[in-house]
Amino acid sequence: MQNQHDAFKDERDIQTDFKEKMTYSDYLGLDTLLNSHHPLSNHHDEMLFISVHHVSEIWIKQILHEVNSAIQDIRAHRLSTSFKKLARVSVIQDQLKQVWDVLATLTPAEYMEFRDSLGSASGFQSYQNRMLEFALGYKTEHVLKIYEHDPELRDTLQQAHDAPSIYDVSIQALAREGLPIDEDVLNRDVRLTHQSNESVKQAWLTVYRNVDQYWELYELAEELMDIEDLFQQWRFRHMKTVERIIGFKQGTGGSGGVAYLKKVLEQYFFPELWELRTEL
Ligand code: HEM
Repeated sequence: MQNQHDAFKDERDIQTDFKEKMTYSDYLGLDTLLNSHHPLSNHHDEMLFISVHHVSEIWIKQILHEVNSAIQDIRAHRLSTSFKKLARVSVIQDQLKQVWDVLATLTPAEYMEFRDSLGSASGFQSYQNRMLEFALGYKTEHVLKIYEHDPELRDTLQQAHDAPSIYDVSIQALAREGLPIDEDVLNRDVRLTHQSNESVKQAWLTVYRNVDQYWELYELAEELMDIEDLFQQWRFRHMKTVERIIGFKQGTGGSGGVAYLKKVLEQYFFPELWELRTEL
């Protein structure tokens, strides 16, 4: 049996000339990725603080990639193709949630050593998080003011804000299956957050009461539930981790801190999917 030593016995097998060839680092852009830590203090723990934000943003990027593609699938009547992507989103969300366990190892005393150097920088300004909220249907146009200093980014965000959410295209899918949906919901202004609607709730209730007949819509509903449930769990862990680290201090972004983070927990993306549970 070949052991590790044998595998490296003939050193001529090892690729060493990379003048004309792509390396692992080239392919992954590691120079940029690994040189993106710019601590503003000399404190040991600032590195962790930066890393957990980087990891989170990378996962949000992947989630956006999947959700936006799933929106196109649902729009184009390819529900089953969207399921694979949406299921992947939930697994990534699980990873995102675990970031809080790592961050919770940062004590208040450690964080206070470098918090002042953050100035007014805050996760509140995470534009990817806003794009994800828009894709899921929570539309807050007022936050776009934050990005006025960067017109190109602001335009990208405006487009994301103005586009139909995954819930809009899912409601259209209900109507396509012949389930009655109010015209004003089908033709609604998608730049606004969807408000709970009785015809949508009744349509989803029909799906849940006839799962064999509406299997794909039922599966879609449960995928959406997984995503919203995990999003809320992420928000909850964020809120509790923040309370653990800064208590009830004001946020660096200017909000009331934990009080604000508790408030956003009341926001629903897919309200009828939650409401129907009481009526089944
Ligand atoms: C010690 C660590 C952290 C503290 C103390 C903290 C604190 C806060 C506070 C107080 C807010 C409210 C806005 C403000 O006034 O600043 C906020 C918002 C936010 N934070 Fe954090 N945060 C931390 C880590 C993170 C991490 C790792 C992420 C990952 C991306 C993150 C993402 C966000 C997002 C997306 C918002 C906006 C939430 C919304 O508007 O619904 N935060 N954070």
